[in-house]
Amino acid sequence: MQPDKMRSLLIALTGFLGASALDADSILTHYFGNDAPWYSDRIPLFETDLSDIQDVYYYRWSVFRAHQRDLGSYGYITTEFLNDVSWQEEPWALLIDASNFHLREGRWCRDRRFTSDYSSFLFGPNGDPYQFSESMGDGVWQAYLVNGAADDATPLLESMQTVYAGWNSTTLGVGGYDTSKGLYWIQPLTDATEYTIASIDATGGTDGFTGGYAFRPSINSYQYANALAIAHIANLTGDTSVREEYLQLASALKTRLQDDLWNSTFEHFIDRYKEDNEYVTYWDFIRGRELVGYVPWAYDVLDDNTTYAAAWRHLLNSSELAGAHGLRTNEPSYQYYMVQYRYDGTHPECQWNGPAWPYQTTQALTGLANLLDHYPLSAATGVITTADYTNILLQYAKLHYNPARGGILDIEEDYYSDTGSPIVGLPRSPHYFHSGFADLILTGYVGIRPRADDVLEVNPQADASTVSYFRAERILYHGHEVAVQWDATGDQYGTAGLVVEVDGTTVATSAKLTRLTVDITSASAPAFSSPIAVSVQLAADSEYPRGSVSVADADTDAVHGAIDGRIWFYPQVEVSNGWDSPVGNGTEVWYQVDFGNVTQTARAEIAFFANSTQGYDVPEKYQVQSNATGGWTDVSSGNYSTAVANGITTASWEEVSTEALRLVFTPKTGEMVRLVEWKGASGYWHGSEAF
Ligand SMILES: *[C@@H]1O[C@H](CO)[C@@H](O)[C@H](O)[C@H]1NC(C)=O
Ligand SMILES: *[C@@H]1O[C@H](CO)[C@@H](O)[C@H](O)[C@H]1NC(C)=O
Ligand SMILES: *[C@@H]1O[C@H](CO)[C@@H](O)[C@H](O)[C@H]1NC(C)=O
Ligand SMILES: *[C@@H]1O[C@H](CO)[C@@H](O)[C@H](O)[C@H]1NC(C)=O
Ligand SMILES: *[C@@H]1O[C@H](CO)[C@@H](O)[C@H](O)[C@H]1NC(C)=O
Ligand SMILES: *[C@@H]1O[C@H](CO)[C@@H](O)[C@H](O)[C@H]1NC(C)=O
Ligand SMILES: *[C@@H]1O[C@H](CO)[C@@H](O)[C@H](O)[C@H]1NC(C)=O
Ligand SMILES: *[C@@H]1O[C@H](CO)[C@@H](O)[C@H](O)[C@H]1NC(C)=O
Ligand SMILES: *[C@@H]1O[C@H](CO)[C@@H](O)[C@H](O)[C@H]1NC(C)=O
Ligand SMILES: *[C@@H]1O[C@H](CO)[C@@H](O)[C@H](O)[C@H]1NC(C)=O
Repeated sequence: MQPDKMRSLLIALTGFLGASALDADSILTHYFGNDAPWYSDRIPLFETDLSDIQDVYYYRWSVFRAHQRDLGSYGYITTEFLNDVSWQEEPWALLIDASNFHLREGRWCRDRRFTSDYSSFLFGPNGDPYQFSESMGDGVWQAYLVNGAADDATPLLESMQTVYAGWNSTTLGVGGYDTSKGLYWIQPLTDATEYTIASIDATGGTDGFTGGYAFRPSINSYQYANALAIAHIANLTGDTSVREEYLQLASALKTRLQDDLWNSTFEHFIDRYKEDNEYVTYWDFIRGRELVGYVPWAYDVLDDNTTYAAAWRHLLNSSELAGAHGLRTNEPSYQYYMVQYRYDGTHPECQWNGPAWPYQTTQALTGLANLLDHYPLSAATGVITTADYTNILLQYAKLHYNPARGGILDIEEDYYSDTGSPIVGLPRSPHYFHSGFADLILTGYVGIRPRADDVLEVNPQADASTVSYFRAERILYHGHEVAVQWDATGDQYGTAGLVVEVDGTTVATSAKLTRLTVDITSASAPAFSSPIAVSVQLAADSEYPRGSVSVADADTDAVHGAIDGRIWFYPQVEVSNGWDSPVGNGTEVWYQVDFGNVTQTARAEIAFFANSTQGYDVPEKYQVQSNATGGWTDVSSGNYSTAVANGITTASWEEVSTEALRLVFTPKTGEMVRLVEWKGASGYWHGSEAF
């Protein structure tokens, strides 16, 4: 029997059991090596014949994992840069401009802890909601649409209203609400998009890092979506007066955005100036199209009006927004297109006057999937199609392969749209989490359209003329196990056509890629556990917990790195993470955590980096010691798993209350040990329960 026939038969047989068609172990090991266990009950599996799209899908989950920062009792947040940058909020390493992407990616993570903790943090006392324009409220609502867990969203309702109203304040300085126009304005830098047309032109073309205050499609869409999120969440709590108030605010904002930011000459939503100076005039339109003009579709602000649909023509025109390797943020016809104003040393710094930015590419693709899915009049114009969606998504996937680093998967800040090379390329740049991808795959390509009611709706935007097959499974949706599969011929999975499965049973099929809707029962989202790591030091200069090592003159930042709550194993030296032992010569070394108080401990997760080219390996042996009774002695009943390279090594012991713990280990002769993280927790070890 031919291998593919054999496979089809096997699948047909196992299908009766409602089993998965994908081999989870081999897929996860292929993509994540020894770190596969972290992903195994956390990510949906996905396969497709467009291999770049598949490879980037898994790469993006590694980016998601790398950016989960454990803040101990403060829970997890999602970071943007792997390396610390001067403008992040300390001691958390918080940057909120990409938080909507973080939440939209995270909503597909089966372990709800990450979105739940992060949402609470963003709207809690340590958040920084005016650091950048934001759509955090929308992010919380989007997570609810997938997981159906009202308890994650409703406690934030009051804080969301406070944050929303705060954007009205005139004291923000760099953003606010203009009562006479009924629109929000923002400094492009505070919109996370320095050097846009508005900010460059407001300096007469001499600069544009700051200033250039403008009524932008972005912030007005974000506030529209935040208002609707508040209305929907208030609706969940039965608070009809808040619901009606915010529905009204959203509706008013939508009218103003449609009526005032649409420029019929450009056939585009563009900024108008708030700034009024010798170069630019209050309320004038800017003089060009920008990619930000598609943001209103990403947040479903607009009516289905064919006049607006014309804007999408410009996304496909290679003389306008369509670069050969990425979508441009504004057009080559702009006088200061790609003029470089700002450098870090000799490296060009971030600018938004033309480069392709994954950030806005994600927004444009989200908007395009929305248009193709539920703007029927606009879609019927044929200005832009599902084939375009698939092509642009594939182009975006290819942008993840970094030619400046030998073609490895490495997403960075921004790109030359005509070559696909990253522009900035600083030490902080690798594996930058400032955009989305998994969400585009699951809501666009695979087409799961998250909704609040007990309906599963699927409408794939994968183009049947290009895509032979895909399957996504292990998707947790409203408490159900969902899988969606497409097989043009039946050769891949044994069944031709589109198949939707709920809890292992086929519930809808179609011969073609089309919309399918299925009623599902209301099921609660599974509970998740939140063990607290007691070892996490928030900043290198935080008093406790504190790390120290047996070696003199150790690098303080590197020592901090081993207890900073961040784990990744990327080999790029620019983003190395953790403390390096001396080269092994048979001598034991130790890493000690001082808790500053007597603290209960019973288990640890240890992350060792390894790369033979770079001279790193796991230790020859390791053990855990405490000084609970004075001198340093091994913990009782230590259960040490074999040291894992580039994955998690676990240790547990009989609970001990101690002020300090040591990881004592012997590096292999001639090799260093890089301790990426040494995470201790209280409580007992519960099987697969992880930090
Ligand atoms: C913001 O200010 C406008 C104008 O004063 C007002 O209509 C609106 O209700 C305010 N929004 C909030 C959320 O306070
Ligand atoms: C409020 O909830 C009801 C059902 O619970 C739903 O039908 C309605 O669409 C919701 N309205 C809003 C504004 O979320
Ligand atoms: C569109 O914006 C340009 C300025 O950039 C302006 O000249 C033109 O009049 C605007 N079109 C309309 C219909 O307002
Ligand atoms: C579509 O938008 C245009 C421009 O704002 C407006 O003039 C027109 O009335 C709208 N059409 C419909 C059907 O709403
Ligand atoms: C593409 O854009 C250029 C520059 O704006 C324009 O001159 C040309 O007509 C456009 N082509 C099409 C097919 O719209
Ligand atoms: C062996 O390594 C330790 C550090 O781990 C160092 O202090 C010691 O000097 C080394 N011994 C020799 C003989 O190199
Ligand atoms: C030690 O514990 C006490 C009592 O719980 C607490 O008040 C104190 O802040 C802790 N000290 C440190 C350094 O954590
Ligand atoms: C090990 O490091 C080298 C050099 O930095 C790198 O090229 C290689 O990809 C790394 N190997 C692995 C398995 O990550
Ligand atoms: C354990 O070590 C810590 C850190 O050096 C110290 O503060 C503490 O007093 C020690 N505990 C005992 C019981 O000696
Ligand atoms: C030792 O730890 C492993 C997990 O790493 C666990 O499966 C095993 O049951 C533990 N054994 C004992 C005796 O506690």
